[in-house]
Amino acid sequence: MENKNTSINELEASKQLGFIEELKELFDKEFEKSGKRKTFHVETFGCQMNTRDSEKIAGILKQIGYEEIASEEADFVLYNTCTVRENANNRVYGRLGYLGKLKQKNPGMMIVLCGCMMQEGTAVEKIKSSYRFVDIIFGTHNIYKLAELIRIRLDSRRMVIDLLKETDMIVESLPSERKFKFKAGVNIMYGCNNFCSYCIVPYVRGRERSRNPQDILDEIKMLAEDGVAEIMLLGQNVNSFGKNLETPMSFAELLTEIEKIDGIDRIRFMTSHPKDLSDSLIEVMKDSKKICKHLHLPIQSGSSRLLEVMNRHYTKEGYLDLVKRIRTAIPDISLTTDIILGFPGETEEDFLETIDIVKKVGFDSAFTFAYSKRTGTPAATMENQVEEAVIKERFERLLEEVHKESAKAAGKDEHTIQKVLVEEVNSQDTSLLTGRMSNNVLVHFKGDKNLIGKIVEVYLKESKGFYYMGELKYPADFQII
Ligand code: 5AD
Ligand code: SF4
Repeated sequence: MENKNTSINELEASKQLGFIEELKELFDKEFEKSGKRKTFHVETFGCQMNTRDSEKIAGILKQIGYEEIASEEADFVLYNTCTVRENANNRVYGRLGYLGKLKQKNPGMMIVLCGCMMQEGTAVEKIKSSYRFVDIIFGTHNIYKLAELIRIRLDSRRMVIDLLKETDMIVESLPSERKFKFKAGVNIMYGCNNFCSYCIVPYVRGRERSRNPQDILDEIKMLAEDGVAEIMLLGQNVNSFGKNLETPMSFAELLTEIEKIDGIDRIRFMTSHPKDLSDSLIEVMKDSKKICKHLHLPIQSGSSRLLEVMNRHYTKEGYLDLVKRIRTAIPDISLTTDIILGFPGETEEDFLETIDIVKKVGFDSAFTFAYSKRTGTPAATMENQVEEAVIKERFERLLEEVHKESAKAAGKDEHTIQKVLVEEVNSQDTSLLTGRMSNNVLVHFKGDKNLIGKIVEVYLKESKGFYYMGELKYPADFQII
């Protein structure tokens, strides 16, 4: 499929570059007259896919001639929305009210909404009727069209809405802005085919589409040349990468190719679906010098009965067996997970199964979510929706267990030397640097800010629970083996 569409995608990219150029000329002329650059602000809700999309959005806006500012009092404000849980939507509505007031002060302001929430008909209807001041709405499939949509909006007085239900287009080679010089997210696939019964993602992000492996490798090579040391491969279910390509390639094979790229020191990826995590991936991770020792492996529930209703295609025992295989091959791996509480029909017994698996696995950390009903998903119409008070009470019990387990996991590397990628000057204490270990845990230590972006060896002097205090210099009596 990738070959047939390549030329169409390239054609679209060059069309969009034309719109960017046209707007740039217009903005440059305005700048000559006013001496002021127009400003923009992008607010990202939700997951790392959205974070990456926002970098693409910022890249286009900067190319046009907008200047980024930290405040929402900008000439162009964009919300890249999430809809995975109801409260994500509510936050957007709440903040839209505030944007409306800002626009009254600055009538030339452009308010733009995009992302997953915009793929939902009911949300768009509500915005059309109650938030008339919004200028542009687009979805998850057409970010690359941003410049064209701005052009259309400048030429018309109406709200511009551009939504696609599905697409098989993957438009590459448009400008993109990286938040960090030394680390970058790289999309390897879009969409999801799993249809977990509670989840709205397959409806708003569309069917699974893998990027052409050569395009991914070329992008990573360019990033390496540009000083990137760590990449995060992104996809809703990276373990099923490559299945829909004309020449299929597994995720493990892709990783093997990425490993060969000079300059890239660390490779991360997310998210992994337990049902698709292959033994060959475990082998590749075990032998790799670059793949980080961290797996985010959402379990969602410990009850095999509920896992079936959730359409997850694994059981509690299957998950435990997978964890055993992973840990046998890579003993020092850090495991994190997602858990949903209060899925329709969840009984006390089901809940106790979840507590039990948390104990058995001993996750390094876990994100816990109260089930949120998403209209259009099979779970939304299931009987036996669990009462809020019950969810709340279980939530607290689960958190206690999760904290106990992560406290056990924390500190196990105390008094060892670990490789740390220095990320930034510590925001609380500027004499400290903050870096990240392969297992994703943070370390704070004294050092010069010239080290930012470099991988250094740090002695982990003291565990503070979820992070370490470290030293660049090892104690005199420390034996490096
Ligand atoms: N309610 C609560 N949590 C959800 N997630 C996905 N859909 C829902 C929902 N309807 C959680 C899952 C997923 C994470 C990204 O969000 O745990 O792994
Ligand atoms: Fe949602 Fe399941 Fe797809 Fe993850 S794998 S995005 S939970 S449908």
